[in-house]
Amino acid sequence: MKILFIGDVVGSPGRDMVQEYLPKLKEKYRPTMTIINGENAASGKGITEKIYKQFLEWGAQVVTMGNHTWDKKEIFEFIDGAKNMVRPANFPEGNPGKGMVFINMNGIEVAVINLQGRTFLPAIDDPFRKVDELIEEAKKRTNIIFVDFHGEATSEKQAMGWYLDGRVSAVVGTHTHTQTADERILPQGTAYISDVGMTGPYDGILGVERDAVLKRFLTSLPVRFEIDEKGRSQLNGFLVTIDNSNGKSTRVDRILINDDHPFFG
Ligand SMILES: [Fe+2]
Repeated sequence: MKILFIGDVVGSPGRDMVQEYLPKLKEKYRPTMTIINGENAASGKGITEKIYKQFLEWGAQVVTMGNHTWDKKEIFEFIDGAKNMVRPANFPEGNPGKGMVFINMNGIEVAVINLQGRTFLPAIDDPFRKVDELIEEAKKRTNIIFVDFHGEATSEKQAMGWYLDGRVSAVVGTHTHTQTADERILPQGTAYISDVGMTGPYDGILGVERDAVLKRFLTSLPVRFEIDEKGRSQLNGFLVTIDNSNGKSTRVDRILINDDHPFFG
């Protein structure tokens, strides 16, 4: 099977790109399932129920999250009922929501796990120990396990890739909003990329309106960060092809759509 992953969708420019290009990507690559990281989908911080439902309507099966999970207050109203949403599994025990979900695609079950790193991010539970527990649970049902590891440091993400090599189908990094060109299949069959990148503004700085970011760097004064809604947009994604018989990946394709890398159907 093929799993299409769309990197951190940022604000309305990101949502517009998903709406415009997801049908085209589906036509071109024919993915079995689609996963979207939506932790920045509502004006850069968090997600609303309306946006979550839109992603499902547009053809995603799972929405993953990250350090901005709790930024929109309404998340507490709907996350427990959001069957197709995962937030980092290593958030403290008892947090609302869940860190792993099973999706049945034409009779084949896929486990999707969301984890968050601890390097340059809040100190939460150990993602390495947590994922051991989840893999043990998942393996009772399926060999096809997809991990979105939301982290800042490439070292921590590479460590997770090697830690899980041969035990999961894919480890994809998210959070930095900058796509890395290190996609590969690790020796035991785990697809890996340090960061899928971001879907949203192309001319901002990590999606944020750049004058404000420059002012922060030049003056060290507090500034309000807004999503850059005036510039051009981009879509960053990753396509993993998996052998259903053993859950190992056989092919990885990095997807980059912007004015410098136009989409060809
Ligand atoms: Fe993040």
